[in-house]
Amino acid sequence: MVNVAILGFGTVGSGVAEVLTKNGGLIDHRVDDLVRLKYILDVREFPDSPYKDCFVKDFSVIENDPEVNIVVETIGGAKIALEFTTRALKAGKSVVTSNKELVATHGYELLQLAREHGCSYLFEASVGGGIPILRPLTSCLAANELTQITGILNGTTNYILTRMIKAGLTFDAALKEAQANGYAEQDPTADVDGHDACRKICILSALAFGEHVYPEQVPTQGIRDVSLEDVAYADSKGYKIKLLGRGIRQPEGKVCAFVAPHLVPNDNPLAGVEDVFNAIAVTGNAIGDVMFYGRGAGKLPTASAVVADVIDIAKDLKKDRHNSWGPGAPDLVVSSDILASRWYVRADGTADQAKQACGEIELLSRSGAPAGEVAFLTQPMTEPQVMECLKGMPVHSRFRVLE
Ligand code: HSE
Repeated sequence: MVNVAILGFGTVGSGVAEVLTKNGGLIDHRVDDLVRLKYILDVREFPDSPYKDCFVKDFSVIENDPEVNIVVETIGGAKIALEFTTRALKAGKSVVTSNKELVATHGYELLQLAREHGCSYLFEASVGGGIPILRPLTSCLAANELTQITGILNGTTNYILTRMIKAGLTFDAALKEAQANGYAEQDPTADVDGHDACRKICILSALAFGEHVYPEQVPTQGIRDVSLEDVAYADSKGYKIKLLGRGIRQPEGKVCAFVAPHLVPNDNPLAGVEDVFNAIAVTGNAIGDVMFYGRGAGKLPTASAVVADVIDIAKDLKKDRHNSWGPGAPDLVVSSDILASRWYVRADGTADQAKQACGEIELLSRSGAPAGEVAFLTQPMTEPQVMECLKGMPVHSRFRVLE
């Protein structure tokens, strides 16, 4: 018998309970053992829940029960979740989580702790929700040197941008709609300012490139500065504006990682990823390009990834999964300043002024553009170079173009 405890009965935690129950027969068959939900930790009361007999309020009940093999942490955040994860691993219990904040900030130490105590720390659901991405990255693509990761990693911002592009909603109106549909939180900061995507590119980069990349090392820009004017200019030349998290391997083991809105050409599959869907494009030196696509959030898609990790552990409780990475370093992440690309610019000025400033440019147009507004694409250059070129122009928007 394998006993599971869930910490936190919110959206994901309740989804995990539902999947474990609904698919109990096939899970037992696949594990070749009985997998049972023994405890749910939550401070709230759930008197009508079908799992009402499982609820406990004191974590030490779980920690001290030798029958509990696997703890599912779906509390979120990096405070109490860190404490309970640490205590569970020290008690020799494997931990499965969807908590990207905790993995991105403390993944290295928690993976070390798991190895020291002969258990596992798995987090497939922390990136891309239900999309299988972390295990494929480390097992199916293990023969490759991975060189680049480019992802639409946040469903809420992708929904907002899609509604701006397809329905002409302003950012504020699209955000309200996302909140009404339950995609965006009442405080949407983590999504719209790019922090959620940042945590996910940290985890992907650590797995792909072998060293911990910390969120504070990753320059992060969200989508608050994307306007309907930018959407229209981008559309006029066959581009969609997308929030991308990017990780690019550099010489000598360094990593260039950042999160920012980009113009993505319509013939790139990432341009067709709409609504709350996520997609992650990975480049390896044997496979070339491969893309993973699917539901990046939501109760059951995320629970699907969590329970897959539970099954993996339950099949072999003692297996050493070797899924660790190095501790990282203050100088591991190099600035995206080194990366040359074309740039989209919207500024006050004329076409002649734009040419004088940036040399050869491609002018963009949109209906209803006021006199004195100019938008264009530059030749490839680094960010310091484009900033130097634009020194004399009042710039409203400036985004990279994905090549
Ligand atoms: N808020 C996240 C998103 C949930 O919108 O993608 C999944 O991490």
